[in-house]
Amino acid sequence: MLAGAYAKINLVLDVLGTRPDGYHELATVMQTLELHDSVEIKEAREIELVVEGAVLPTGPCNLAFRAADVLRRRVGYTGGARIKLVKRIPLAAGLAGGSADAAAVLRGLNNFWGLGMQSGELEEIGAAVGSDVPFCLRGGTALVRGRGERVEPLPGLPPLGVVLAKPPFGVSTALVYNRYDDTKDPLHPDVQGMLQAVRSGDVNGVVTRLGNSLEAVTLAMHPEIGEIKSVLAAAGALGVLMSGSGPTVFGLFENLSTARQAADRIRGGNFGLWVTKLYTPPA
Ligand code: C5P
Repeated sequence: MLAGAYAKINLVLDVLGTRPDGYHELATVMQTLELHDSVEIKEAREIELVVEGAVLPTGPCNLAFRAADVLRRRVGYTGGARIKLVKRIPLAAGLAGGSADAAAVLRGLNNFWGLGMQSGELEEIGAAVGSDVPFCLRGGTALVRGRGERVEPLPGLPPLGVVLAKPPFGVSTALVYNRYDDTKDPLHPDVQGMLQAVRSGDVNGVVTRLGNSLEAVTLAMHPEIGEIKSVLAAAGALGVLMSGSGPTVFGLFENLSTARQAADRIRGGNFGLWVTKLYTPPA
């Protein structure tokens, strides 16, 4: 069987505080993109992982492997599966590529192994694998709270065009959160305003409320991110923001074709470019 593992961006991300478990309490609106990895599952005696399109570990360090392993242990399943990931989502980018793969593996193996698990159970297992996995299991547009485990679906947005621009390095999410803790006067974006805009399908309201508590932290480590934001804004983006803990910056455009034209104008800079659009998975 073959499944898509879709990237996400954060339209708004507010860090509300630290939790006793060391994680951070979040209020974020996540949005699925059409950009995706592919996950293929075939029969095998053990869990085997093969990765194409990127150099990645294929053992327990890989979230997709871990997801399969945790699921198998949880239900006491004795068989295996050969999982092939075809990577297109950039790595360590703030786009939840690893979590998307893990979510697709959980959903895929639930079917492939005939486990009959409900989505709530899968989300609980997903949360143990990674904070973004519960959202990736649902996809679409959602308010995500807690550490990432509380996912509340929101109405889908129109398929706005998206240009992703990623500088030639990744960042460690854990390091960004650590640095956030040392920040004196962190930004708290307007989550309520974003929710209102999303709920009323107000694209103008969405683009004016883009905001991310982590952006200034990653930007302080990598000033290139600020330059990339300016380049995307000058190329005509309706709004521009760093996604998650970064370093990828996204620009929102009216549609796919205006996003493509903008990407063509800024090609050749010191960043990778991907053109995609907002995606609402079929119900
Ligand atoms: O859950 P995940 O392994 O994806 O998180 C990576 C790191 O990001 C964690 O080790 C933690 O340092 C940080 N994190 C956090 N609060 C969250 C999500 C992630 O502090 N809500």
